Amino acid sequence: MKHTSDKRAVIIGASSGIGAELARQLAREGYQLMLLARREDKLKALYMEINREVRERRAQYIVHDVTDFQSIPLLFDQILGILGRIDLIVYNAGILLPAGEREFNFSKDMAIMQTNVLGAMAWLDLAAEYFQKRGAGQIVGISSVGGERGRAGAPAYNASKAALNTYLEALRNRLARFGVHVLTVKPGFISTDMIQNAKESFWVAPVDLAVSDILIGIRKRKQEVYTPKRWRVVGWLMRNAPSFVMRRLAI
Ligand SMILES: NC(=O)c1ccc[n+]([C@@H]2O[C@H](COP(=O)([O-])OP(=O)(O)OC[C@H]3O[C@@H](n4cnc5c(N)ncnc54)[C@H](OP(=O)(O)O)[C@@H]3O)[C@@H](O)[C@H]2O)c1
Repeated sequence: MKHTSDKRAVIIGASSGIGAELARQLAREGYQLMLLARREDKLKALYMEINREVRERRAQYIVHDVTDFQSIPLLFDQILGILGRIDLIVYNAGILLPAGEREFNFSKDMAIMQTNVLGAMAWLDLAAEYFQKRGAGQIVGISSVGGERGRAGAPAYNASKAALNTYLEALRNRLARFGVHVLTVKPGFISTDMIQNAKESFWVAPVDLAVSDILIGIRKRKQEVYTPKRWRVVGWLMRNAPSFVMRRLAI
């Protein structure tokens, strides 16, 4: 299949939803891919689907749990050895464990912070160091509009995405002078497993649309992408809503 790119990308959290669709669309652009996640059956089906479609071995996978922090440095070097070079790294792994109305649960909160924040730091610190030395590279973090404010419905998830936003912003500010691009993606509602594949509507977007927006952000080296775009307005309203409004919101 004709393709336009000779780039190599790593997607962490590639087995379903946004990560899987990003893998499909990057493969069509000619990227060599290393796909990581915990569910081997999903990764295997995806890598076979991609390689069948592009009629060559453009995707490979490794089973990995991002909370196994100690394994990450060795894994990073292994992937570098396999791909020969990394041009793009996407940290997409994330979990949302809803909190009941009167529930406060540290086990759930810890799992969310480990997956959404500490895993990101464990991977992206290594990527940042590598790209800084190379003087090139792109880092993409899949965050959320949920990081704009603390809402009653999802304290740890909101906190995790707020931390991810700030961490990515700081990486961008450190790495821009070395020619390294850092993109923060803030999806609204995207119809994936995370929101029980909710029916598409004005507020719930299909996953391919979200990924097209992300690819534009990568190509144009944007700092931040809201997807769908209308969520930029929602993000602004949330950031600027007075506290008493946030207290009354039941979401
Ligand atoms: N869907 C939405 O409405 C929405 C909105 C805002 C932001 N987001 C963000 O978008 C990202 C992707 O979510 P999605 O909507 O595409 O949902 P999804 O289909 O549930 O995808 C989550 C991905 O993260 C991986 N993952 C989770 N825990 C992991 C772990 N411990 N180690 C390795 N991989 C792990 C999952 O793979 P395994 O389970 O196989 O490990 C899966 O590939 C997340 O960061 C999410 O917070 C989604």
